[in-house]
Amino acid sequence: MEKLLIEGGRELVGEVRVSGAKNAALPLLAATLLAPGTHELTNVPDLRDTRTILAIISELGCVWRRQGSTLYIDSTDLVFSEVSYDLVKTMRASVLVLGPLLARLGRAKVSLPGGCAIGERPINFHIRGFERLGVRCTLENGYVDARRDDDMRGSTIHFDIPSVTATENMLMAAVLARGTTVLKNAAREPEIGNLIDMLANMGADIEGKGTDQITIRGVSNLTAARTAIIPDRIETGTYLIAVAAAGGQATITGCEPAHLPALLDKLMEAGVEISSAPGTISVGMDPGRRRRLRGVDIKTMVYPGYPTDLQAQFMALMTLSSGICVIKETIFENRFMHVAELRRLGAQIQTEGNSAVVTGRGPQGLSGARVMATDLRASSSLVIAALAASGRTEISRIYHLERGYENLVDKLSGLGARVWKEKE
Ligand code: EPU
Repeated sequence: MEKLLIEGGRELVGEVRVSGAKNAALPLLAATLLAPGTHELTNVPDLRDTRTILAIISELGCVWRRQGSTLYIDSTDLVFSEVSYDLVKTMRASVLVLGPLLARLGRAKVSLPGGCAIGERPINFHIRGFERLGVRCTLENGYVDARRDDDMRGSTIHFDIPSVTATENMLMAAVLARGTTVLKNAAREPEIGNLIDMLANMGADIEGKGTDQITIRGVSNLTAARTAIIPDRIETGTYLIAVAAAGGQATITGCEPAHLPALLDKLMEAGVEISSAPGTISVGMDPGRRRRLRGVDIKTMVYPGYPTDLQAQFMALMTLSSGICVIKETIFENRFMHVAELRRLGAQIQTEGNSAVVTGRGPQGLSGARVMATDLRASSSLVIAALAASGRTEISRIYHLERGYENLVDKLSGLGARVWKEKE
């Protein structure tokens, strides 16, 4: 295992290019199972999670090759429909293959993901949705065994709360179903829009992109196509917050400012200098602004609200403010694992239920320590805190970071950070 070492207290200056979105790449890679032929996906990040879904795709009989950030996936020989616990346990998003396997082969047996560091995370919405389309689902020996004897039939599916991957799974199942499916109270995240674009490129008939009601008119067949993965809005947000926390001046390129409405507002409210143009966002934080950083409250919400995947990072920034803020996590029940680690760096945070009250200690409030990464986004909040802290921070269990941040060390070093990996 490796650990990450950071000598904090240096400003971040320069330019950093964001990669393609992990949470778009995963459903789009799963969607290649829907049609035979060679699919081309561009801007695909090379991450632990994308490698996991590629391992699953290979296990199912498909072949792929990577050329730079472009992946060619040939799913002509999709023959298997079972995904083992060994792969699912490392990544919950493995359940995204259920929809396409059911649509193309009529059967899917996928290990049930367990709980994870950020909450219980059941998949009942996925299962209920498949059942509405005429699929029989049984849970046995830790596996979801889903089958249909006949074509899937279009139906109306109403989600209790908007779920990103359940919306994606239903989209992928319904595109080849007989008749029309309407998804109500669907999630509206940009990654879902990216999946809808890919399915449309393949010949699907879908209406309602970007809204909470999506109508899918089933078609009889789809063909392989070429689609670009959208920029990673969470990676973009992480670098913006890192510069705001450590101070400096940077430009984030290859990003989509329109996908971060809530974060950009909150950063400006806190006193961070932000300006954006198509494909780029500039962030500035001079010493005067750092001293005056305001505490601003956030409440995580489904898109376009403030994203839960940027909650931990914003909390790290708020520990350096000169005020108090309340952070409410409404999406996952256990997403404050970073609090105890941030406290080790000197942060003053109290939690009660799903709220955290952060009392800012000013720009010099944190000092380096040994901390442990607990999940992907919690880890990136520790990186941000470490960049702003005086002295050296050692972050262990960084495999979490590698699930979602491509070339993190190189990208941060490019901005002038002193950061490197060592064996534990
Ligand atoms: N939920 C249920 N039943 C379900 C599905 C979801 O109760 O069948 C609940 C969840 O427990 C949660 C809420 O619904 O309380 C919303 O969860 P959602 O299903 O939207 O989350 P997800 O699809 O499992 C995706 C991202 C997460 C991100 C969330 C929320 C992918 C692969 N993962 O997860 O990303 O936090 O949406 O935006 O797209 C990450 O990248 O670090 C990450 C965790």
